[in-house]
Amino acid sequence: MTQGTGGSDKTAGGFVKSFGCQMNVYDSSRISGMLGEAGYTAQQGPDGAEVIVLNTCHIREKASDKVFSELGQIRALKEARAARGMSTFVGVAGCVAQAEGAEILKRERTVDFVVGPQSYHRLPEMLARARLGERSLAIEFETQEKFDGLRQRGAAPPLRLISAFLTIQEGCDKFCAFCVVPYTRGAEVSRAPEDIVHEAEQLVAAGVKDISLLGQNVNAYRCETGGKRWGLASLFERLSEITGLERLRYTTSHPNDMSEDLIAAHRDLPKVMPFLHLPVQSGSDAILSAMNRKHTAGAYCGLIERVRRARPDIALSSDFIVGFPGETDADFRATLDLVREVGFASAFSFAYSMRAGTPGAERRDQVASDIKKARLLELQGLLEEQKKTFNASFVGRNCEVLFERRGRHSGQIVGRTPQMLSVQVDGPESLIGSIHDVVIERPGANSLFGRLASERQINEAAN
Ligand code: SAH
Ligand code: SF4
Ligand code: F3S
Repeated sequence: MTQGTGGSDKTAGGFVKSFGCQMNVYDSSRISGMLGEAGYTAQQGPDGAEVIVLNTCHIREKASDKVFSELGQIRALKEARAARGMSTFVGVAGCVAQAEGAEILKRERTVDFVVGPQSYHRLPEMLARARLGERSLAIEFETQEKFDGLRQRGAAPPLRLISAFLTIQEGCDKFCAFCVVPYTRGAEVSRAPEDIVHEAEQLVAAGVKDISLLGQNVNAYRCETGGKRWGLASLFERLSEITGLERLRYTTSHPNDMSEDLIAAHRDLPKVMPFLHLPVQSGSDAILSAMNRKHTAGAYCGLIERVRRARPDIALSSDFIVGFPGETDADFRATLDLVREVGFASAFSFAYSMRAGTPGAERRDQVASDIKKARLLELQGLLEEQKKTFNASFVGRNCEVLFERRGRHSGQIVGRTPQMLSVQVDGPESLIGSIHDVVIERPGANSLFGRLASERQINEAAN
């Protein structure tokens, strides 16, 4: 996934390209905000931009490779601009920056600064140094300083967004044997609840109705302040009090941090939406143990049962890895069994990718890539079938849709159901930003099609 965001002035352009997870999308909007403060106008592409920042992802090999091919193209742009007497400053941010640090500066002359995810508060200074011809590197773990920087700067205006991300926690202490995140994002650190509430209020004042709380392990959120112990459930309770905020979501969670009070929040707090992304990775206990996930397949299924009891209409989503070292055909079948038992609304699935520095990469029993490919195809076939079944189950039903934007065709508007399904209807743009009942008529490839439940809604909105 890539997305461009930028800053605000008329002198020079700034372009930020985001790769990887939602946390990077959130960080990219903050980086754009900083570029805006430094006088750069938001740009949708790198052409003509004086500052280009790639906010990178290190999670799988292909994701990292993209950065260097992208930098090759940027080098050509920079040289063309230099020939016309114009300077260009190129930065690499995000998880590849954290993991490869000095190596990037050595390998790519075109890069002026490399900044890890916990050091974005240093960006203005690094940009100033780049303007003086100095190259710089900042990859210290300074999460608290980063959060303080966010507080001082406040939330960047979300530019007419109806739904927005809000980072509440960063880092990971879990050390799953396949994963680079604990090394690129550092230890788990939670933001203070008052800062989160303040940022949420700013977002709502700017028109946001649906907030997704973000964290690498968002349900590990904990903070002690003012004699109170906060967890994700108490944070949801507090955020639910914000008038005008309609919907709350969160991602990504770890099964072992799925506390009973968080499960209860799904039952008791109407603003907490019936959607849960809860990665399981594998259905085999042997593989789960080798992955250092610290729970069994049975424990995961038991957890899902309790969640469903609390919120029967919940949509479940997950992440899967096939071909972790040592995975046998029987292990893989156990994953298929778990998928059949749970029944997912959606999921992401990946072939295991060896990451240097992680325990998985040290193992000698790597699975051949053609086996990984075949397993991935089979798993994706099953998950796709489940997704279709889930989507089709809404046909003929009434859904509360929060409209977020215009559709591709004129007269069409697009929104999302509580279960995060995208819905397209014919309706006036004036409905964007509010929730309306929609009768679902048919499922499409990636979204549902429906009609507004009441014609009266259209007429009222039009007048
Ligand atoms: N913190 C989250 C997400 C981490 S990254 C969590 O714990 O679930 C998102 C997903 O990428 C992971 O859930 C995993 O399925 C996948 N992933 C991570 N490392 C990987 C690797 N080395 N190879 C393949 N997939 C990987
Ligand atoms: Fe990676 Fe595991 Fe941490 Fe998720 S919980 S970020 S998969 S180490
Ligand atoms: Fe990628 Fe870093 Fe996110 S590795 S998935 S950008 S935490």
